[in-house]
Amino acid sequence: MLTQRIQAVQSSPTLRFTALAKQLQAQGKKVINLAAGEPDFDTPEPIKAAAIRAIQEGFTKYTPTTGIPELKAAIVSALARDRGLTYRPEQIAVTCGAKQALFNLLQVLVQAGDEVLIPSPYWVSYPEMVRLAAATPVEIRMDPKNGFRLDPKAVERGCNSKTRCLILNSPSNPTGAVLDENRLKAIAQIAKAHSLWIISDEIYAQLAYGTKAPSIAAVAPDVASRTLVVDGVSKAYAMTGWRIGYLAGPTEVVEAAGRLQDHSTSNPTSISQRAALAALTGDPASIRQMVQEFGQRRDLLVRRLAAVPKISFVEPEGAFYCFVDISATGLRSAAFSERLLQEALVASIPGEGFGWDSHVRLSFAIGRQALEEGLTRFETFIRSL
Ligand SMILES: Cc1ncc(COP(=O)(O)O)c(C=O)c1O
Repeated sequence: MLTQRIQAVQSSPTLRFTALAKQLQAQGKKVINLAAGEPDFDTPEPIKAAAIRAIQEGFTKYTPTTGIPELKAAIVSALARDRGLTYRPEQIAVTCGAKQALFNLLQVLVQAGDEVLIPSPYWVSYPEMVRLAAATPVEIRMDPKNGFRLDPKAVERGCNSKTRCLILNSPSNPTGAVLDENRLKAIAQIAKAHSLWIISDEIYAQLAYGTKAPSIAAVAPDVASRTLVVDGVSKAYAMTGWRIGYLAGPTEVVEAAGRLQDHSTSNPTSISQRAALAALTGDPASIRQMVQEFGQRRDLLVRRLAAVPKISFVEPEGAFYCFVDISATGLRSAAFSERLLQEALVASIPGEGFGWDSHVRLSFAIGRQALEEGLTRFETFIRSL
């Protein structure tokens, strides 16, 4: 008999559709993948070279659980340079991806009886991670009419005596929405008034188009002591497989998250830490190029979707996703994604896993030519319904 804890956790809908797309590809079908949750770019060469050097030098043993000092120092500098955040090295823990940072934080910040506010649509793993911490996820529905931006008044309405924590994700997966300074300041004041922890998932912070995605801890310094910033190298440096993320915040919380890591995974891979060090201290030109390319793909996607009947969408300002309302087709999200895949050979992710069965997520982490072809197929499919 499995534990109640794991029985309450759902399998990832993202993975189910990715597997289905792979199955069709294996049968020789030319599937266009608009379901990707990772950059299609290869990890830049200097980063790979640093990892190869680490292996050749025998840097292949355990490291301190929460990361090597050089990497922590580089993270401190990068957070100051890119996000205007001030931390000391002991306020940083390096983790096996941003995912582990989020998981560890929820384990140390909330427990049975506590409620965690999750703006919805949300990244699929937040509610499950909250449940694994024995706490209760509470959705705050966001409105596409407000560009899926979190309304501070809705945060206020969601608070009660059990509320302990608020999860923010700007730019957002799956909507691409970015929270601006004024909104973040208003949200910060509510979090402060209700003594909430803020977990700010900023994994897409570098991927914003024509705008900047500020950090709540930078725009509202009075909540920095109750904010845990989560970031990593996965998305901005095309390093999803290397599994390096990090968290930054008050020392007491960071140390507690480190104790949990001591008894679970121990250190993130030594070789990947050297690679992440090269990423954060290297020439930023390669990220700039990737961001520029994502921006052009975003423009292409927005232009093409605007011509498609029966759908509506909010133009993404960041990340590499667009969350498309397909309710006028009369199909629920899983049925829509399944038919789109079987009939048009286009992979998408149904919105149900993000809390919205009326939507599907399309990704533009794919080359422009394939994106064009995928969107042509998408339009033909919608017109056939
Ligand atoms: C919003 C969000 N947070 C965290 C992660 C996890 O990132 P990592 O691969 O560094 O664990 C993802 C990955 O898809 C994500 O979309």
